[in-house]
Amino acid sequence: MISESVGVNQNGNLTVGGADCVELAKTYGTPLYVFDENLIRKTCREFKSSIDNFYGGNGLVLYASKAFSCKEMYRIVGSEGLGCDVVSGGELYTALAAGFDPENIFFHGNNKTPDELEYALKSGVGRIVADNMTELEIVESLAKSLSVKANVILRIKPGIDAHTHAYISTGQIDSKFGFALENGEAFEATKKALDCDNIELCGFHCHIASQVSETKPFQEAAEVMLQFMADVRDKFGVTVKELDLGGGFGVKYIESDGQIPFSEYMEKTAVTVKAKAEELEFPVPKIFIEPGRSIVAPAGLTLYTVGNVKTIKDVRTYVAIDGGMGDNPRYALYQADYTVEIANKASEPKTFIATVAGKCCESGDLIQENAPMQTPEVGDIMAVLNTGAYCYSMASNYNRIRRAAVVMVKDGQPRVIVKRESYEDIIKNDI
Ligand code: LLP
Repeated sequence: MISESVGVNQNGNLTVGGADCVELAKTYGTPLYVFDENLIRKTCREFKSSIDNFYGGNGLVLYASKAFSCKEMYRIVGSEGLGCDVVSGGELYTALAAGFDPENIFFHGNNKTPDELEYALKSGVGRIVADNMTELEIVESLAKSLSVKANVILRIKPGIDAHTHAYISTGQIDSKFGFALENGEAFEATKKALDCDNIELCGFHCHIASQVSETKPFQEAAEVMLQFMADVRDKFGVTVKELDLGGGFGVKYIESDGQIPFSEYMEKTAVTVKAKAEELEFPVPKIFIEPGRSIVAPAGLTLYTVGNVKTIKDVRTYVAIDGGMGDNPRYALYQADYTVEIANKASEPKTFIATVAGKCCESGDLIQENAPMQTPEVGDIMAVLNTGAYCYSMASNYNRIRRAAVVMVKDGQPRVIVKRESYEDIIKNDI
């Protein structure tokens, strides 16, 4: 199976984390997101032990919580000794409400509002990852008025092409995120941060892209960043101690996708970091990484009920499900690949090819086109695999469809971690 969380039981039903998907659908209704806690924890440990092994413990794994954010997720990653990255007041609020240690929260974003920055500073977040000159000015003035010193790292665009979808590429000069190296912006921002009395410049950050399936771009980015840190030392006489290399490790969505073991990215990048540091006679910095997708995507799936099967002669077959772009906008946005299973027929061969259509009033509301699956019938439970990242977190109420519930399975035992929205929830802010 495409995810190690998923299997088939003696009834021929699909299982996730040891729980029967058909039973889950019956108990909690559909659409339903289901996660396997053991796999989430295992992946957290894999990243953490890589940092510990390859950098002698001088580093921290920050879970990029935009991939899947809810209170229970912050509790799980916090209990595994990870920090987290947040990109909005809402993510910060959720993390703090879950009792996350603010010291281990990094606050990202290309347009943090003054209110969000004040909230972050008052909450005592570990680092603010500054994106632009205006933000530096706001942080300096807020920190002054609060009589605190803001710990800041600067987001740098290292100019690396990571060969992924344009919407999720962020390392090149033409990106809305961060300061470019090529045109001197990165040095100007460094000078400005160093000149601020209430800003402590702790280091630099880069994030080249998401769903990257090669290690080379990460190694290249690390080299560029270390060179920049050495150049900053030579130019300003300041040796910063922290380097945040971002996230972006690719996962497998369909059988033909390649997936590099996460520890391999870590090891190769660590070798590069240490070699470059030695060449530049620069002390190996404290390393942060920010995996999001890789921690949650393979540990989650979505269950739906098939409502109708519409075969248009000589055209195609649409299988209509009770969810769609509201709970998973990734096909509509990026033509993202997914593996589809009929959960109550999981031991049968996948000889049927169909398009999975959502229930929104929109022709583009598709989850997958031409997907192989077991022969679907009305009332079947469909599972779309590896939807743990950027599905619940990107969900909407389009067509006033209620957001689905989230169930976490641990050792075969399910529990609800996010309730299904009610119709009352849908109108609660309407006046
Ligand atoms: N750090 C920063 C600064 C980021 O911007 C991101 C992702 C990450 C870490 C985590 O990247 P990951 O390990 O998850 O690849 N909605 C898109 C993905 C957007 C990624 C945004 N930034 C999708 O569904 O594919």
